[in-house]
Amino acid sequence: MELDKVLTGDRPTGKLHIGHYIGSLKTRTEMQSKYPTYILVADVQALTDNYDNPEKIRENILETTIDNLAVGVDPNKATFFIQSMIPQIAELTIFFMNLVTKEQVLRNPTVKEEVMLKRGKFLGNPPFGFLAYPVSQAADILFLRANKVPVGDDQRPMIELANDIAQKFNKIYQTDIFPTVEGVYSECGRLVGLDGAKKMSKSLGNTIFFDDSDEEITRKIMGMYTDPNRIRATDPGKVEGNPVFIYHDLFNPNKQEVEDLKDRYRKGQVGDVEVKRKLIKAMIDFISPIRERRINISKDRNYVWDILQNGIKKVQIEAEETMAKIKEAMKINYLNELVT
Ligand code: TRP
Repeated sequence: MELDKVLTGDRPTGKLHIGHYIGSLKTRTEMQSKYPTYILVADVQALTDNYDNPEKIRENILETTIDNLAVGVDPNKATFFIQSMIPQIAELTIFFMNLVTKEQVLRNPTVKEEVMLKRGKFLGNPPFGFLAYPVSQAADILFLRANKVPVGDDQRPMIELANDIAQKFNKIYQTDIFPTVEGVYSECGRLVGLDGAKKMSKSLGNTIFFDDSDEEITRKIMGMYTDPNRIRATDPGKVEGNPVFIYHDLFNPNKQEVEDLKDRYRKGQVGDVEVKRKLIKAMIDFISPIRERRINISKDRNYVWDILQNGIKKVQIEAEETMAKIKEAMKINYLNELVT
């Protein structure tokens, strides 16, 4: 029985934010002490819909790594690496493509959104590379035979597909090389946007970044959505599903203060401004050490590149070993034939 192994990753397309923190960054900082942990900077995946902008991806490789380090992913515990530096992932993607049908990929919600919906980027005529990216994500996980994948809720279908591929591979090639792949999701699911939208994203402008200034945080929280049915501070308000209280629960460590605010909010004894002021304080307390670490780490780009290069070297060795075993299982390891 193989030991548990954690793998997760980020697309280097922009700065990470508190939505990523709740969805997956926090979980990885907790898991890194218990299991061997790998952090993939998914540049190849980012290229599937940014193939005309490799510069953007290049710049964000460091930013993404720095975001991880700043929130507490420890380079002495976790191994960071860049996807394109491991050609075995691409190789495995090709083998996996035989095990997945076009319909199966088109059922994936993220792919569907871009290919079938009017606002989709590739409406009707997607590049092959984009269609294949859920398959490539399965290869990201399985080339290391990782079995625990801390990801945001939106990634569930990706993890399910990775597991389907793993089990199908094992069955067809009569091997047990691949583990059962299990997504690790945060208890609170997906963090709502500042505007209450289900999805928090840079393009929707409803998020808080790790390098936001105190002023930006203040402005953003002051503009947050609360209970839309509450007009006056003396109206009883709804706490459940109210973005300001969702954030209080997640980012305010003073539970007593939060309970008191909730109690008074329900009774119509506290205004939005007081609730928001207390959230601003909690959020600044949360962000400012991360922001400071970000600044310090950013000063030494070589330190960050070093972490990546060391990780890549380690993962390259592991990838070669696993790929030999995979080819063995597929009976296409011709090198062995030559040796005997
Ligand atoms: N698709 C993931 C995201 O958008 C990033 C990612 C790429 C990933 N490869 C992965 C996550 C492998 C987990 C495992 O967040």
